Amino acid sequence: KYFQATASAPVNIACIKYWGKRDTKLILPTNSSLSVTLSQDHLRSTTTSRADPSFTEDTIWLNGKLDEIKPGGRLSTCIDAMRRAREEVEDADPKAEKFSQCKVHICSYNNFPTAAGLASSASGFAALVYSLAKLYQLPASPKDLSIIARQGSGSACRSLFGGFVAWREGTAPDGSDSFAEQVAPEIAWSDMHALICVVSDDKKGTSSTAGMQRTVETSTLFEQRKAVVPGRMRAITEAIHKRDFDQFAEITMKDSNSFHAVALDTDPPIFYLNDVSRAIIAIVTEYNRVSLDAGGKRKAAYTFDAGPNAVIYAPKENIKEIVEMIVEYFPQESFKDTFALFGKEDVRG
Ligand code: DP6
Repeated sequence: KYFQATASAPVNIACIKYWGKRDTKLILPTNSSLSVTLSQDHLRSTTTSRADPSFTEDTIWLNGKLDEIKPGGRLSTCIDAMRRAREEVEDADPKAEKFSQCKVHICSYNNFPTAAGLASSASGFAALVYSLAKLYQLPASPKDLSIIARQGSGSACRSLFGGFVAWREGTAPDGSDSFAEQVAPEIAWSDMHALICVVSDDKKGTSSTAGMQRTVETSTLFEQRKAVVPGRMRAITEAIHKRDFDQFAEITMKDSNSFHAVALDTDPPIFYLNDVSRAIIAIVTEYNRVSLDAGGKRKAAYTFDAGPNAVIYAPKENIKEIVEMIVEYFPQESFKDTFALFGKEDVRG
């Protein structure tokens, strides 16, 4: 007899960026962050976990390829934590089925091309932890699961929730108060869309994990960033509750720029944006300027993670115009793929 469960988790894209750890083992951040979880029908990871008495080793396949589970590494931290939680259930209830000691086989797939250059660790670790919680029939809340997913990859803790999600940095040295929570559900602002412009599928460059620690160690600008983030967290939360896109856009773009500024202030410097990324910043800035000059409000917001791909947040009614503008400006070969997400349509192509 075997036990099996499957779970999916979507990708999330931060508006207030997580960049820097105060504890690299427990993955505790130097600042709180806030993101939007994309809708479940688009970019997501799906993970199946099976516990079987005949298995001899914990094993994982990522997109069909065997991956290593290093002892003490991030994968084994998450698997061990979930297995311990199952042991507690079995110890507390003599009638509970005993399979916590069975080895597990885990298969995880992304429904977006791995080559798309989009970070998959957030959706990947969230789906892994969620599938193990289902496998082990744990009473754990999404908050509890976010604490475990966080130890797989910091940004993963936010993918356990839909809609607008904050990861509270916390102060406890054991990380017990560093978890994600929903700020507002997707339906509270269903007009909000995300357009993902895949500028490059190049995997080379500095990983988030290595890059952020180098920033913590060498950037002087980083202290200034830590000082401004709490105010931004409060202001963007207010913008979300009021559905004030203008304020949301201003803060999102400022925080993306602030993150890329501390990356540049790192020694040696880290460059994540390329010429296409900078041209997208210029186009969005100009698009907003025309509206602001006419006495209107901002109509789009760009944000970039640890790579050149742009995510543009905008109210649904502006998405078509933005796509047309980008297509007109750039030669076709500038983009590998474009997705309009967090709503119904998919303008892939
Ligand atoms: C720029 O969560 O990938 O996307 O915790 O080391 O796995 P680790 O880092 P990771 O970093 C994400 C950085 C970011 C900003 C964000 O998502 O908040």
